[in-house]
Amino acid sequence: MNKYGKLIDYAINDNDVKIKFEKQDVSIKIIKSDIINFFVPFFRNERNSKAVENLKKYTIKFEVEKSNDFLKIKTEKLIIDIFDNFLVNIYDIEGNILCADYKGEYKPFKRRSGDFSLAEAEGHNINSENEYKVYVSKKMEDNMYFYGLGEKTGHLNKKSYHYVNWNTDNPSPHGETFDRLYKSIPFLISIKDTTAFGIFFDNHFKTYFDMGHDNKEYYYFAADDGNLDYYFIYGPEVKKVVEGYTKLTGTVPLPQLWTLGYQQCRWSYENDERLMEIANNFRERGIPCDTLYLDIDYMDGYRVFTWDKNKFKDPSGLLKRLRDMGFKVVTIIDPGVKVDTEYNIYKDGLENGYFAKDNEGITYRNEVWPGTSVFPDFLNSNVRKWWAKNQKIMMDNGVSGIWNDMNEPASFNGPLPDDVMFDNDGIPVMHKEAHNVYAHFMDKATYEGIKCETGKRPFIVTRACYSGTQKYSTVWTGDNVSTWEHLRMSIPMLMNLGLSGFGFCGTDVGGFGHDASAELLQRWVQVGAFTPLFRNHSAMGTRDQEPWAFDELTEEINKKYIKLRYKLIPYLYDLMWNMSKNGAPVIRPLLFNYQNDKNTYEINDEFMCGDNILVAPVVEQGKKARMVYLPSGDNWIDYWTKEEFKGGSYIIKETPIDICPIYIKAGSVIATSEEQNYIGEKVYEKMIFEVFLGNKESKSRYYHYLDDGESFKYQIGEYNAYKIKVSVDDNVEIKVKTLEKGYNDKLREMEFRIHNLNNKKVIINGQNEKISDNNIITINL
Ligand code: GLC
Repeated sequence: MNKYGKLIDYAINDNDVKIKFEKQDVSIKIIKSDIINFFVPFFRNERNSKAVENLKKYTIKFEVEKSNDFLKIKTEKLIIDIFDNFLVNIYDIEGNILCADYKGEYKPFKRRSGDFSLAEAEGHNINSENEYKVYVSKKMEDNMYFYGLGEKTGHLNKKSYHYVNWNTDNPSPHGETFDRLYKSIPFLISIKDTTAFGIFFDNHFKTYFDMGHDNKEYYYFAADDGNLDYYFIYGPEVKKVVEGYTKLTGTVPLPQLWTLGYQQCRWSYENDERLMEIANNFRERGIPCDTLYLDIDYMDGYRVFTWDKNKFKDPSGLLKRLRDMGFKVVTIIDPGVKVDTEYNIYKDGLENGYFAKDNEGITYRNEVWPGTSVFPDFLNSNVRKWWAKNQKIMMDNGVSGIWNDMNEPASFNGPLPDDVMFDNDGIPVMHKEAHNVYAHFMDKATYEGIKCETGKRPFIVTRACYSGTQKYSTVWTGDNVSTWEHLRMSIPMLMNLGLSGFGFCGTDVGGFGHDASAELLQRWVQVGAFTPLFRNHSAMGTRDQEPWAFDELTEEINKKYIKLRYKLIPYLYDLMWNMSKNGAPVIRPLLFNYQNDKNTYEINDEFMCGDNILVAPVVEQGKKARMVYLPSGDNWIDYWTKEEFKGGSYIIKETPIDICPIYIKAGSVIATSEEQNYIGEKVYEKMIFEVFLGNKESKSRYYHYLDDGESFKYQIGEYNAYKIKVSVDDNVEIKVKTLEKGYNDKLREMEFRIHNLNNKKVIINGQNEKISDNNIITINL
């Protein structure tokens, strides 16, 4: 039964084209010439986005034309044809079809009756289009590839998968059959014939994405309720799609520099002595580390915003001592507030009506870590203000960041019923509408509280989220386990998170549940060194997992890769700066940079760290060598041997246990740092750039960014930016240009460490420079 009927008429209101169908009015809004919003008010009259805030209004030229049987909207980049029954075709400006609504018959495959138990166990609905309140299906082509959707299990390419967006804490080891995890990011990218577009289905009820799992003729997105509100975001480059998506939902803001260092966590460092012991170990062993975590046991009976003074006698004193040693401390905060009439957070919240209620208006209770607990109504801005103020309690003790956990929200005594009520600033909404954005608003409150309290860029790590939460928080992928399978799975998962706006992300290095083996940690730290959030964490009851907890070799390998990470901090910070502007994730699939090379479309076990570094880690036990694909168009330099390879080829790299295959794009520049035990230990007086030359002629550009690494002053121009151009032919020519000089740094020198120079002459800013024996050139600033 079609919900729309015949196309009757249209009217233009600003950038909105309102279309009247027989049975339903719809609206098509031209956001930009390459971003189009499709809106049908099935549930509320207005758009009700939690992800898109303060969207910039663009002045756009577009034309609308109605012929007998369809309506045509033309922008400078796209043509949209709208037919009866609200069937839509989208073309590029040359008339090539990009995305067509499916017009055929719906034929979800039938399960034989005996398979129903399996279907149930997998949580799959055996739905057809009539069973979803909101449903759009698009025609599938054989040569389509799918990416994005945030944190999902399985392969990089999402073709043939069916996923559900319903923030879920499932403690069983996550496998490919899991169709939902902690996060809901209803954003899909498609590539066909090297042309990409994205679909952002901005609906925070339970949503579904099916990429040809039900039937290979079509793919669909659907929701249990709410409006149809989706954006078509044209590329043709994946880069442009991600940029467009992050224009809508926001980019990851520039973080504090220390957050890029190594982070050590454990459930739980049980008291002040143990925490000091961990800190001392890092410094005595010379393993760099910036951050230590306190998991739930630091609290008094799991009461949030309290300390157990038997275990942590003097929190401020302890944190001060750690700060003097160069450590920051991050504490966990869960949303569940313990029911305890003697506990001020509970009392305060109850008096003010700050907790979610059941359908009779009685404060709703469930079980979480503290036992019987209540749930702050984060959808209410007054509750958020209260929660934001509570951050002060932690900041006053010297806490540097907050780890928001269990915010799906998780509950031990059955799921929250659909009709638990949240007061969404005067518009009451049911749990089924609030669920997927619950964490989003907890993170927003936390962000605002920390920002107001410290004036610094807040550091928050969250487990659950919705599209747009990246503006407030980094994410980790929850409770993985210490298995090779989970190390393998983490790579496509993080790459897709990156493509979905969450470029500041990481997994529990070494694995959370189960005991890690020494070899697994040795290989996992090799991946962790390149993931934006680099945190080792493990569950209560599992074996110790700190870098030194196994044997000398494991410690050595941890140290080697953690040191490599610290060397790359300026490069990573440059990537963060870039990401904050255009959404380009720190780690990304090869196809992000090499979209014309179709061999990159299904590579699950290699990733790019920025534009210049390709990492092909070992993700199998005992692996002595692995195949590496080097994408075409560039030459690649083996980071360890400096051997050069032509792109577009598969090579075999031997992988002794301390070697993670790393390749640097020939001709490129990488900003690096001197060794330090923690970020800020040494005054940054010298910029060090490693230049990796190739044999063929090349030209490259590198942008280096610098600021105080913690405040918001960069927003008023207190930062420096440099452009470094390297051209290689018979000579090597390097040109450095200062683009911005608003930050008063301590820099005295700029050093170039040149690899594969092959006796070429080096000219820097027009001067023939003298080179040391080890190919280092230093220029004064
Ligand atoms: C959850 C978190 C985990 C944490 C544990 C105890 O399982 O995902 O990281 O250690 O709770 O707080």
